[in-house]
Amino acid sequence: MTATVIDGKAFAAKVRGMVGEHVATLKADHGITPGLAVVLVGEDPASQVYVKSKGKMTVEVGMKSVEHRMDADVSEADLLAMIDTLNNDPTIHGILVQLPLPDHLNSDLVINSIDPAKDVDGFHISNVGLLGTGQKAMVPCTPLGSLMMLRDHHGSLSGMNAVVIGRSNIVGKPMAQLLLGDSCTVTIAHSRTKDLAAVVRQADIVVAAVGRAEMVPGDWIKPGATVIDVGINRLDAPEKGEGKTKLVGDVDYASCAAVAGAITPVPGGVGPMTIACLLANTLTACCRANDLAEPTGLTA
Ligand code: GUN
Repeated sequence: MTATVIDGKAFAAKVRGMVGEHVATLKADHGITPGLAVVLVGEDPASQVYVKSKGKMTVEVGMKSVEHRMDADVSEADLLAMIDTLNNDPTIHGILVQLPLPDHLNSDLVINSIDPAKDVDGFHISNVGLLGTGQKAMVPCTPLGSLMMLRDHHGSLSGMNAVVIGRSNIVGKPMAQLLLGDSCTVTIAHSRTKDLAAVVRQADIVVAAVGRAEMVPGDWIKPGATVIDVGINRLDAPEKGEGKTKLVGDVDYASCAAVAGAITPVPGGVGPMTIACLLANTLTACCRANDLAEPTGLTA
């Protein structure tokens, strides 16, 4: 079998198109423009690239984009004061503090100081609890994007065996909650799981989110299973020339694609969906803040 390639780039463009249309309606009918504020502390090059890309796409869908850059040695009090200002700004509906933060800042404290209704990352402890109890929450963007692709491909996920490899708060745990919410039978596997290969072979859906390049080989995959690869790992690629690198996922793409029924590539799979879902979450937060109907198909 050769797997269907799930085109995350095209799907993300479709999601952004839906967000853009809804934003246009909000503006025309209600005079409301959704606003997203991104706070970046320090000069981390990868974070700067992410933040620039987020800002560009926010503007492209017609939203207000605000970026606050703070020095790497900013005090916790100053960062919390900035978040408080954004919490109280009625033109801002979503707040994202780019992670990782420098070591002297307490990330949990910072994240939990964001108004949960504006927590478009879905990392606030209140949103974690709401998601875990099946209530209306802000849902982390990468798992939400993965869920959207799975629903689009399968329709109903009810009764499917799903194995999530990785137990992070950002991807693994919320992904498992979402799959459970869609009536999958869910296993969370991790670095201490015994006979991981046998566990993964039971899965109709495999979500790989461990952060280890190409660690899932094709012979772990049940024939016809759907593989969602959340990993983004940069490897040296001397075959492309001296000093060149390439991006690979957490699954070995060639061998998994030969067995799976469907698979997301890296790059061009889950990655583009993350920013699209950030925009979707900002729109959702704006609709909720204004007691307006939420967009359909863009939430869990
Ligand atoms: N750093 C890398 N990815 C993310 C993300 O999705 N949200 C935040 N806040 N920081 C990140």
